Amino acid sequence: MRLNKYIAAAGMASRRKADELTINGNVKINGEVVRTPGVDIGPDDVVEVNGRRIEPEEKKVYLMLHKPPGVLTAMTDDRGRLTVADLVTDVPERIFPVGRLDYNTTGLLLMTNDGELANRLAHPSHHVGKTYRAKVSGVLSDAKLRRLRQGVDIGGFITGKAQVRVVRQTERSAIADITIYEGKNRQVRRMFRAVGCPVQKLHRMAIGELYLSRLAEGSYRKLTRREIAYLKNL
Ligand code: URA
Repeated sequence: MRLNKYIAAAGMASRRKADELTINGNVKINGEVVRTPGVDIGPDDVVEVNGRRIEPEEKKVYLMLHKPPGVLTAMTDDRGRLTVADLVTDVPERIFPVGRLDYNTTGLLLMTNDGELANRLAHPSHHVGKTYRAKVSGVLSDAKLRRLRQGVDIGGFITGKAQVRVVRQTERSAIADITIYEGKNRQVRRMFRAVGCPVQKLHRMAIGELYLSRLAEGSYRKLTRREIAYLKNL
């Protein structure tokens, strides 16, 4: 990146002002005054303006990934397992996942380098609904559904209100859509287990009104401007 753009990207000055600062000798690269605004800055160069180190702000990126099973929600793994970072390969910005899906849970995972938005979405006061489709063992009787909707003890925590709808019930298993407004560790699995219907498969379909829809497993796409605005306004 050219020096004047680098300074502007750090929010220090306009490009024209950056040129002025440079020509006037206010800019150092790796400790030496440089008076050429068009010089190229590499990733390891240290740039100072008026004696203060600057770093360009990264462009904010917002992605949704359709996480497959058998992939860790993390950017690295010391045990060598596949992570979501292995699936998002052509994004140079330092993105990270927003929240977490279990190793074998599939579906919608947001990734961004916008720490402020990520923190806000993760905060419990936000109450953004997360909707999952679960395949569970057993029969989801009316009594069990009532408990799931009103709150169940998942071991030291009583869950809040949830919406649950049975999509299909067969003799031995059921498919249900559930929306929860909290995010305890493995919450959906623990809720169904608490009513005696352990989860066999779990898939996140939506976060609030943001749906995974037709995105293929393992692929990702950038959020639209509208979707980003929606998340910021939640
Ligand atoms: N609840 C779970 O049990 N697992 C997930 O991955 C997400 C929610």
